[in-house]
Amino acid sequence: MTRTIYILNGPNLNLLGKRQPEIYGTDTLEDAASRCREVAESSGLNVDLRQSNHEGQIVDWIHEARQKAAAIIINPAAYTHTSIAILDALFTFDGPVVEVHLSNIHKREAFRHHSYVSARADAVIAGCGIEGYALATRRVVSLLAKA
Ligand code: DQA
Repeated sequence: MTRTIYILNGPNLNLLGKRQPEIYGTDTLEDAASRCREVAESSGLNVDLRQSNHEGQIVDWIHEARQKAAAIIINPAAYTHTSIAILDALFTFDGPVVEVHLSNIHKREAFRHHSYVSARADAVIAGCGIEGYALATRRVVSLLAKA
């Protein structure tokens, strides 16, 4: 069985650390990746963190995960609130799916309160900054241990 966790990130998250730091913090996506790596490697798992500004690319990576990943952690960014295509792709994936948001989307504008992806996510973590990625990895590790 594959021991890789895909950590997929949507639009504008390449600018994490520089983009609206008062909301998203000053840590980068690479900092998030190292935190996840630490958690995953202690349980014999690998992480593969990716980011794209393109919806179709994220759909393609989810399809790839069907063969190559044991679990998916996903921050779809703005596509959270718009993308039935990403939701449908996640429905084709059998392993654990954890949705992460750096900010607490429920404390923000009303248009951020609804997530399409939550209809498939096994867990949702919001408002913990990049620590949310490490928490999501911990949850995936325990879900995979139970599977
Ligand atoms: C986000 C929240 C989304 O509403 C927003 O569009 C993002 C980032 C978060 O991590 O808090 O780009 O997913």
